[in-house]
Amino acid sequence: MGKKKVIRISVLVSGNGSNLQALIDAIEDGSIENAKIVQVISSNASAYAIERAQEHDIPVNIITKHDYADIRDRMDAILEALNNESTDLVVLAGYLSILPKKVIDAYEERIINVHPALLPKHGGKECYGLKVHEKVIAAGETESGATVHYVDEGIDTGRIIIQGIVPVKSSDTPELLQARVLKKEHQILPEAVRMVMREKGW
Ligand code: GRF
Repeated sequence: MGKKKVIRISVLVSGNGSNLQALIDAIEDGSIENAKIVQVISSNASAYAIERAQEHDIPVNIITKHDYADIRDRMDAILEALNNESTDLVVLAGYLSILPKKVIDAYEERIINVHPALLPKHGGKECYGLKVHEKVIAAGETESGATVHYVDEGIDTGRIIIQGIVPVKSSDTPELLQARVLKKEHQILPEAVRMVMREKGW
């Protein structure tokens, strides 16, 4: 059997990029083998994730609502960027836009997303950022955590790959819980990439 093809990963971001950083670190320290982040696509021109990519010589594509007033054009640009880099796996890492059917179909079962709650609870429209943790605390949950799932046409509804659990403490503010969950995201996202690669025989 010849040498395995290096898996080409495109990472979509919108903000700080701490999940992107977790992937960069996992590839660089060898805990994810045989994979390369071929580009970062950001929906936000001032995302710190862009600097993280540049630090590691990863090409950046900034594709925002301002550049493409029409969402169809914006999504065509994203699809073109994914195809141009011969992407094998798309990772949504703190990416705040919803991908349309056209993109989902082109990369069926090859798009994964990290969500800061234990899906299927506390997911869906309007359930992102700090709001997720506010809802978890308001619901009186004693546990929360993070989920990595395949992306389908719903919002946070695709097949779950891995989940990581954290306690919710009675003294928790949304910010404290968010920080605890984010650390868990950084642990399970690289593991999810490894699981997907194994599952697909990559
Ligand atoms: C965080 O709220 C995280 O839970 C979610 O996206 C947000 C930003 O993450 N996945 P990152 O630091 O930009 O990766």
